[in-house]
Amino acid sequence: MKIYFDNAATTALDKEVLDAMMPYMTDHFGNPSSIHSFGRQTRAAIEGARKTIAKLLNVSPAEIFFTSGGTEADNMAIRCSVNDIGIKHCITSKIEHHAVLHTLEALEHQGRIKLSFVNLDKKGKVDIAHLEELLKSNERSFVSLMHANNEIGTLLPIKEVGELCERYNAIFHSDTVQTMAHYAMDLKAMKVHFVNGAAHKFHGPKGVGFIYVSSDVKIHPMIYGGSQERNMRGGTENLYGIVGLAKAMEIAYRDMKAHQDHVMGLKAYMAEQLKKNIPGIEINGDLNSSLYTVLNVQFPPTEVAEMMLFNLDIAGIAASGGSACTSGSNQGSHVLRAIGCDMERPSVRFSFSKFNKKEEVDYTVTKLKEFFPVKEKV
Ligand SMILES: Cc1ncc(COP(=O)(O)O)c(C=O)c1O
Repeated sequence: MKIYFDNAATTALDKEVLDAMMPYMTDHFGNPSSIHSFGRQTRAAIEGARKTIAKLLNVSPAEIFFTSGGTEADNMAIRCSVNDIGIKHCITSKIEHHAVLHTLEALEHQGRIKLSFVNLDKKGKVDIAHLEELLKSNERSFVSLMHANNEIGTLLPIKEVGELCERYNAIFHSDTVQTMAHYAMDLKAMKVHFVNGAAHKFHGPKGVGFIYVSSDVKIHPMIYGGSQERNMRGGTENLYGIVGLAKAMEIAYRDMKAHQDHVMGLKAYMAEQLKKNIPGIEINGDLNSSLYTVLNVQFPPTEVAEMMLFNLDIAGIAASGGSACTSGSNQGSHVLRAIGCDMERPSVRFSFSKFNKKEEVDYTVTKLKEFFPVKEKV
C-alpha cells in the first residue's frame, strides 16, 4: 500500500485540471503577447483565468497577478511594500514560512527595515494585544502574518487582524498559500492588501500561483522585463500553468463543502485513533480550530525518533517532519521550536486531501502502533 499524507507539501494533480491544461500544452501554443490569432487565443485563456480567480475572491481582475508560486508572491508583497510604499517597520511572527521570514530577515540585515516579532502562545496563536502595541508604538508598519501555518495548521483571525491594521494605517499581507481554495474567501471583506495562492496546494500544477494586490496600494514591478501582467511582471506567462491554476480553483470552490467534510472527518478520526492506540501522544497546535488538512502529532519519546519518517516511508506512508533534532546539523522545525515544543520528542505532520481514505488512516495507525509497543506490566 502507498499512502500520501503530505498534502501540505504538495497535492496530486487533478485529472480534470490536466484535461483543461492539455490543449495549451499541445495545439494552443501561441505566445500570449503575439498579436496574431495564435497569441490572441492564448491571451484570452490567460485573461479568462484571471477573471475566474477574481470572481471567486470577489475582487477585480486588475488586482490579480500571476507568479511562479507562493514564494515569489510573498517576496513581491514584502519587497514592493518596502521599496515602493516606504515601509521602514515590519511585523511578523517566528512561525511564518521561510518565503516570508528569510525575505524580511534579508531586508533587516541590509538595514532597510526594523523587524518586530509578535508574541505567540503555545499553540502558535498571535497575541492580538501585543500586535496592537507594536502597531501603536511604531511608524506606519507592514504586517505579514500567515492565514494558516503550514506545519501546525494554526489559523489567524484574519478579519480581526485586517481591521486592526486598518485602524493603524498599516499594510497587511497574509500568506494564504495553505488556505487558498480550501476556504471560501471574500477579500473585500477581509481588509487585506496582499494575499497569495500556489496552485500545487489545491490539486493544480506546480510552479504557478498568484498574488492579489489591492488597488489601494501602488507598487512597481519586482521582476522587470516585457509588458506582461500589465507591466507588473516581465516574462512569457506560464500559459498552461495559469489555465490549470484557474481550473483547480474552480473545482475547489465547486466541491468545497464535500471535500471539507471529508477531510475534516479524516483528521478527526486519525486524532481519535492515535489517542486511543498510542498513549502519551499530543497534538501540536490547536486541534479544535486549525486548518482542516493538517494534523501535527507529537509522539512519546523513543530511541527511534530520528527514524520515524524513514520507517513510515518504508511502510509506504509519506508524511513529513517537524522533526526531533538530537544530532547533527538538523535544527528541527523552526515552527515547533518557536512555540516551545519538546524537540526531543518526534513530531510528524500528516496532511490530507480529498483523495485520502479512512482505510489509509487505519493502516497508518496500525503501523505507528508497532513503533510504540505497549510495555507489559510485570
Ligand atoms: C505557507 C506557505 N507559504 C509559501 C509557500 C511557498 O509556496 P511555493 O512552494 O509555491 O513557492 C508554501 C509552500 O510550502 C507554504 O506552505
